[in-house]
Amino acid sequence: MFMEKFLIYGGEKLFGNIKVDCAKNAYLPIMAASVMTEDEVVLKNMPNILDIQNMRKILEFLGAETKIDGVDLHIFGKNIKNSTISNNLSKNLRSSVFMLGPLLARFKKARVSYPGGCNIGLRPIDLHLKGLKELGAKVIESHGNICCDGSKMKSGTVILDYPSVGATENLMMASIFLPGVTKIYNPAKEPEIVDLQNFLNSMGASVCGAGSDEITITGVQKLSGTTYKPIPDRIVAGTLLIACAMCGGKVTLENVVPEHFLSLTDKLQKSGCKIVVSSDKITIESKGKPKSVEMVETLPYPGFPTDLQSQILAMQTISKGVCVVRENLFETRFRFAQELIKMGADIKLCGQTAFVCGVKELMGAEVFASDLRGGAALVLAGLCAKGHTTVHGVHHIDRGYSSFEKVLSALGAKITRESENL
Ligand code: UD1
Repeated sequence: MFMEKFLIYGGEKLFGNIKVDCAKNAYLPIMAASVMTEDEVVLKNMPNILDIQNMRKILEFLGAETKIDGVDLHIFGKNIKNSTISNNLSKNLRSSVFMLGPLLARFKKARVSYPGGCNIGLRPIDLHLKGLKELGAKVIESHGNICCDGSKMKSGTVILDYPSVGATENLMMASIFLPGVTKIYNPAKEPEIVDLQNFLNSMGASVCGAGSDEITITGVQKLSGTTYKPIPDRIVAGTLLIACAMCGGKVTLENVVPEHFLSLTDKLQKSGCKIVVSSDKITIESKGKPKSVEMVETLPYPGFPTDLQSQILAMQTISKGVCVVRENLFETRFRFAQELIKMGADIKLCGQTAFVCGVKELMGAEVFASDLRGGAALVLAGLCAKGHTTVHGVHHIDRGYSSFEKVLSALGAKITRESENL
């Protein structure tokens, strides 16, 4: 099988400026929401990553026309007739589940397979389905398929048992055309939810409250086309900040919203890094041997994001002191830690908690990425380890980081991509 790997020679400090791409997790639901209009939607600055390419395949499979003009993605959904997503497409991308809401809104029916995605835990979709049922959708699950009939859906109230990002987004989209007022209580408050609201409103929807404890959707009859630029990727930005904190150096990130990652910058400052923030820029300066941040616990926004847990854990392996990392969202998000141990890290795992005792230095080794963010964490470890590190399974990292090796090389890291036959 044709695969790719990263070859890293560790020990370089990182210096330079990087412009951060639009957020994958904002772009994906916005792409899904684009099928709710027959008019053209233009999404600016498409990130060149696998998850977005897979979502584009799903839209085309449904009958949408898409094209890339420069760096912008054009979606033209007039000819969409299909409301069923094939098993093959669903299994490559967890975000295929986002199609339930928009397809129900436009066609009053939708059929998807149980979604695939990152190998980080069970990832049920019960909250999505429970919410849709509470709005009157009929949901039939059989043989791994989910069939929804939305012909009897009505506006109403949904109280989420947990502030799930995907369930909140699906319910917002599913209720866009329902006459009357729909309320979602205990929704997720992530910046990507606010971005979806802004996108929907730019098409003529009436959604308010995203980012607070209550989202209100007042049904409209029709959505029209729009041109929209999704928010910058706070997880990519956070990964690069942690890379600099670990390796030392001075890096400025442009096109960021610093308020979106306050939980990270607080930790980086406590670890001894100097952070300077302006409206859409952030600069980090690090001497390269951070202090332990002592405790990290992943939580829904504005808590510490689970999508930066692997990277900050990698940082703790070379930090001075001991750190407890608690993963509250996904059950198997510590797999990459076994690979860090191969590099000399001192990590004890106990269920959803990792105890990390910083070592003087990591040693280069051959390691295997098994999920997106864990893979990125292994790259960061390789960048500051002594000698050569090979990271296999780069396709996981390509799901969320556009040409990661080129971005890091531009900052002075020694990292190349090579093909391998497995
Ligand atoms: C989104 C992000 C993902 C991020 C996660 C948490 C996208 C494309 N992906 O994923 O990168 O890691 O938010 O910030 O935006 N849960 C249930 N039942 C459900 C749905 C979720 O029990 O029906 C649980 C999950 O198992 C998990 C927690 O809720 O423990 C959070 O999941 P959720 O917020 O739904 O994450 P995603 O939307 O899948």
